[in-house]
Amino acid sequence: MQTGKPVVVPRVSREPGFLHRAAERPELPDQELSYISAPVALDGRTVGAVGIDLHFKADRDYNRTVKFLGVVGSMIAQAVRVQRLIQADRQRLVDENIHLRQELKERYDFSNLVGTSGPMRQVYEQVAQVARTNTTVILRGESGTGKELIAHAIHYNSSRAKKPFIKVSCAALPHDLIESELFGYDKGAFTGAHQSKKGRFELADGGTLFLDEVGELNLATQVKLLRVLQEREFERLGSTETIRANIRLVAATNKDLEKAILAGEFREDLYYRLNVFAIFVPPLRERKPDVLLLADHFIEKFAREHGKKVKRISTPAIDMLASYHWPGNVRELGNAIERAVVLCDGQVVHAHHLPPTLQTADASGTGQTSSLKDSLEAFEKDALQDALKSARGNRAKAARLLSTTERIFNYRVRRYRIDWRRFKG
Ligand SMILES: Nc1ncnc2c1ncn2[C@@H]1O[C@H](COP(=O)(O)OP(=O)(O)OP(=O)(O)O)[C@@H](O)[C@H]1O
Ligand SMILES: [Mg+2]
Repeated sequence: MQTGKPVVVPRVSREPGFLHRAAERPELPDQELSYISAPVALDGRTVGAVGIDLHFKADRDYNRTVKFLGVVGSMIAQAVRVQRLIQADRQRLVDENIHLRQELKERYDFSNLVGTSGPMRQVYEQVAQVARTNTTVILRGESGTGKELIAHAIHYNSSRAKKPFIKVSCAALPHDLIESELFGYDKGAFTGAHQSKKGRFELADGGTLFLDEVGELNLATQVKLLRVLQEREFERLGSTETIRANIRLVAATNKDLEKAILAGEFREDLYYRLNVFAIFVPPLRERKPDVLLLADHFIEKFAREHGKKVKRISTPAIDMLASYHWPGNVRELGNAIERAVVLCDGQVVHAHHLPPTLQTADASGTGQTSSLKDSLEAFEKDALQDALKSARGNRAKAARLLSTTERIFNYRVRRYRIDWRRFKG
């Protein structure tokens, strides 16, 4: 090992280095032995040695034996090399996994929920209360209020954080597929089931199962789901083996479930199973103080994503954001800001960068701060850009959309220094 060179000891009994070793080999008391050893070398470094004892024979060809052992040594080295590659690869995956988990956690823990308004603080409190328990949670609230984000926050603040968070979009799955998606199936359960497949309940084992849009489940699936929630067990389709469900259930809906019950579209018993701990996520119009915080958050996010230098929002634009009623809630706000960031070519988002739905008479950014000339120009620029967008950068087509000639259109585009190529695609 030390020299990295082969060793040949023809007579072990005459080698001082072996004297005390004989005692360790009592099974060979009186025989004379030869000892031969060769290094195991990997990339020029000795990583081991292979040695053998042979009966002493005066006429033995030691060179041949050394060569043979050398070959054995290099075969072992190959095996070690492969093993190390596999280990390095595994370590890389482990590191990557730890990194990704950390990233996920950062993305979805509380710090990602923007908003400090009273109603949102109440939501955070409820999340904190319920996260550490195993209680079933139902998130209620209009579309785009952040239910999914809150479901993530519950998971990543629970003791199940290191286990999977599995989402099922009940509305997006066809009714005839949802059972096999939820419970999985065994090979041969139906035509086309060539292999058995785990369902989401099994995939979420030890973690959280998020049933999004739970109000859209059909009645037959509701029955099946109810059974799992009651008995905490289920079977794969086509299988008789019962599987225990170790999951925490978080459901979400923007539907009026009480109304759905009256209409016979939602089972009352399932409703009571789900309605253990309800969190009502307030619509954005009921938390006006959050609008600006969220707008700033989205400016930063989308400026980074689109590589823009946008930094802030002009006062008239802020007024527009604040007075709008946001029927699409945070999602709509996010979309409006993304659009503004894309359209904006300076550091400031102006009123005319905001979508037309926000441009009402009292808050169109044409307030005290700008002259008639400025606001007409802003409007004209906006119209030119919108037409270019609709025409995907085709100037002749954009001109037609505005019922003007291509010559006039191009003149105006140059005047406002609009880069029409940006709209191509
Ligand atoms: N408090 C918040 N802070 C930051 N971003 C938020 C917040 N609330 C919502 N969002 C963002 O708004 C968008 C919509 O949120 P989410 O998908 O959670 O809504 P939802 O309630 O599940 O809507 P739907 O019922 O339509 O599915 C997402 O991009 C989300 O990241
Ligand atoms: Mg959602």
